[in-house]
Amino acid sequence: MFVPRPETELLAGWAIDHARTLEAPVVVELCAGAGAISLSVVHEVPGARVHAVELDEPAFEWARRNLVGTGVDLRLGDMADAFADLDGQVDVVVANPPYIPLDAWESVAPEARDHDPALALWSGDDGLDAMRVVDRVAWRLLRPGGVVGAEHADAQGESAPAVFTGRWADVRDHRDLADRPRYVTATKPRR
Ligand SMILES: C[S@@+](CC[C@H](N)C(=O)[O-])C[C@H]1O[C@@H](n2cnc3c(N)ncnc32)[C@H](O)[C@@H]1O
Repeated sequence: MFVPRPETELLAGWAIDHARTLEAPVVVELCAGAGAISLSVVHEVPGARVHAVELDEPAFEWARRNLVGTGVDLRLGDMADAFADLDGQVDVVVANPPYIPLDAWESVAPEARDHDPALALWSGDDGLDAMRVVDRVAWRLLRPGGVVGAEHADAQGESAPAVFTGRWADVRDHRDLADRPRYVTATKPRR
């Protein structure tokens, strides 16, 4: 199972800060893994309605255990077609998708590449295949004015925001505590 990394706290913090500005926000986590981000949001944002999806069955099983009693709506499945019942109703979409290019084996820490499941790591030739799915799904789910935030590799500080360039407003990249590019956020315009 993929072990949540400290860097992801920043993305979770961003989702919490944004959700706290809203009354009864609807939050969706894509690629939930063991459910750490959803667990943070549901604990830190009173009144939030949190939904999460994970494709890998063992990870889903961990998330199910971690989220017992929290009220998080956890679903097993592919984010690509998840939550059709929430289309246009979501305030915040948050995701830590797989983002490592298929040929970047050498650059990945041995403890990750030897133990984390492949589905949690690799994401096509440029590492952004899953990010492109996050872009499409977030656009479908968010209401106008809703926001998406997604973690990426430190080498993707320009290429990850570029996925959201065009129809999204306020596309921004954010750095981690070591000053490395770490996650991108964008807003669905209200027009
Ligand atoms: C980098 S891990 C992040 C897990 C967790 N969100 C965290 O931050 O610790 C990516 C997760 O995305 C899941 N995943 C990959 N492709 C997916 C898809 N198409 N739909 C849903 N989940 C997916 C993997 O199984 C893995 O659990």
